[in-house]
Amino acid sequence: MLIRRAPDIRYSEVTPKALYMRRREFMQAAAVAAAGAAAALSPAGSRHVHAQNGRTKLPNVRKSQFSTTEKLNSYEDITSYNNYYEFGTDKDDPERNAHRLVTRPWTIRVEGLVKTPATYDIDTLIKPYAFEERIYRLRCVEAWSMVIPWIGFPLADVIKRLEPLPSARFIQFTTLADAKQMLGIRVPVLDWPYVEGLRMDEAMHPLAILAVGLYGEVLPNQNGAPIRLVVPWKYGFKSIKSIVRIRFTDTMPRTSWPVANAREYGFYSNVNPTVDHPRWSQATERRLGEFFRRKTVMFNGYGDQVAHLYSGMDLRRYY
Ligand code: MTE
Repeated sequence: MLIRRAPDIRYSEVTPKALYMRRREFMQAAAVAAAGAAAALSPAGSRHVHAQNGRTKLPNVRKSQFSTTEKLNSYEDITSYNNYYEFGTDKDDPERNAHRLVTRPWTIRVEGLVKTPATYDIDTLIKPYAFEERIYRLRCVEAWSMVIPWIGFPLADVIKRLEPLPSARFIQFTTLADAKQMLGIRVPVLDWPYVEGLRMDEAMHPLAILAVGLYGEVLPNQNGAPIRLVVPWKYGFKSIKSIVRIRFTDTMPRTSWPVANAREYGFYSNVNPTVDHPRWSQATERRLGEFFRRKTVMFNGYGDQVAHLYSGMDLRRYY
């Protein structure tokens, strides 16, 4: 058990020194906000079924051919060992603090190089899509991994409906940044709001999904409710949580981790055991719940499906 919980790379190592979290400052912010925080509302989309344990089931979820058959991590692992810095930088901070996030009503602004820029209510936006269970490996840049049964639908289906202009070459996603709900953004760990991006062909790949649930239920707030990206062949930080804006661009958009430290984090961030992080190896990983380390696999094991996206590219240079 001791081993299972011990992170391989400490947060202080991952984060650029100048930005290193001042824990005391965060705790003070937490205390102030606790006094005035509004109670979180539970999600209330038409497809939700409320269960007695307070969690919400998502009915009519179909299986997917893209799922791995590997052993799943437990619900507890997946929902209590999180990276969601808007709620604090320790692994258990998001579980403790994310109940403050109000996930309905929720809107997503679609803008940039798109036929009709608009603001969508989330339930209107996701209504056309059948929910699928996608059991994916998630490999964090901190060299741990999990197997998670996400529920969602292909990002490509949403993009097609939004009709980006032919000049759109990239897509950028933005997370909510509301200091009233998110205590962590009172501390400049990152340049808030959290932003991420993909090249358009990556975004259109059938493995890339928008997730609204896991383990058959509505996404817990700490995992990125009400809607987050999941890109299984890239390091976990590309899978941005609680999305409020989608922007189509013709130039590579800024993304949070390279902005924080361009030497250590790149735009592509494909899982690659042969390119080490400047301060630690990416050759192996610790699967939560396992004792021995495993070898990390190129593209997190999704190479057969995605390697062609990068043919001819020097992945050492475009890390
Ligand atoms: N999205 C936002 N908005 N803020 C974050 O701090 N952390 C990223 C990613 N998405 C993060 C985020 C990192 S580093 C990882 S590994 C995954 O979320 C973790 O997802 P999980 O907590 O659901 O396992």
